[in-house]
Amino acid sequence: MVQNKKKTHWTQWKSKLIEDPVLPYFVIEGKSTVQPIKSMPGVNRFSVDELVKDVDSARQLGIKTILLFGVVSNRKKDDLGGNAFCPDDLISRAVKEIKDKIRGVTVITDVCLCAYTTHGHCGILTGHEGAIDRRKTLKALSEMALRHAEAGADWVAPSAMAKGQVAAIRQKLDSNGFHRVNILGYSAKFASVFYGPFREAAKSAPAFGDRREYQFASADSARALRRIAADIREGADMVMVKPALAYLDVIRQAKEKFRVPVAAYNVSGEYALMKLGAKKGYWDEQAALAEIMTSIRRAGADVIISYHAKDIVRRKNAEKKTLKSFNGGE
Ligand code: PBG
Repeated sequence: MVQNKKKTHWTQWKSKLIEDPVLPYFVIEGKSTVQPIKSMPGVNRFSVDELVKDVDSARQLGIKTILLFGVVSNRKKDDLGGNAFCPDDLISRAVKEIKDKIRGVTVITDVCLCAYTTHGHCGILTGHEGAIDRRKTLKALSEMALRHAEAGADWVAPSAMAKGQVAAIRQKLDSNGFHRVNILGYSAKFASVFYGPFREAAKSAPAFGDRREYQFASADSARALRRIAADIREGADMVMVKPALAYLDVIRQAKEKFRVPVAAYNVSGEYALMKLGAKKGYWDEQAALAEIMTSIRRAGADVIISYHAKDIVRRKNAEKKTLKSFNGGE
């Protein structure tokens, strides 16, 4: 029975999500604020009012799905990441505004504590050398997911890599009547240097230690595939491989092995590389972008999450136009 429910879930969303790039956004407190992110030229942090304007223009361009990350000031961070799941939290406010003001946008929210904790780790710590307190972390993540669902999120995307996070969130959502909210599992998340610019963007670098404790070593594709299988068993409607470019083989294996759709995250470092090379004149950005996106698709990704999403859609629109004029117009 559960199986059936999931199937309708997916078919309902499939046409809306597949083949369309997902655009990530960084959301900050305050008003009328747009903060450029140095390491990611062309990407900004937006206060909620400015976010709504940008999402509106992205929607008109053809972006149908967005992924939201919350970025709070140091003042709002604590050991437990309490501002991630408090009533009227930043992301819930953002989701409500978007859903109120813009039609036809699918909203995915990131569910993780790293941008809300003083220590910058993805979960709540036990106090012993950066170890994660699993029980407390799962409770916090499920609360956070529930807030987002209540605000109107269509998907929640747990990225904390806490074992059992998908099951805990599914259970919390279902017991509160949010069966319609889907879960995108950040299942195969490798410990990668390519997250560097993101940590500047989200101000989420760990204050000590690193994330090797809960992210996979780059050689360990077997473990990543086991985690994907576990996330699917726990109820993930879609799974993710991240980063994309250094892990194309994992995308391919996931696609061949499992029946759920696979998302690939073209991460901040990949974006920064592309921009730097283009700026130096080493390659033509549009051509390089087309080649890279093709490679991620060829590997088997159903969905691509990318900071280049607007450019990808612009390119698609231009191609459609050319095709139309080639076929003799409308
Ligand atoms: C953690 C999270 C990270 C990214 C997305 N979610 C960073 C990390 O694990 O350090 C990275 C995405 C990117 O680099 O674009 N919540």
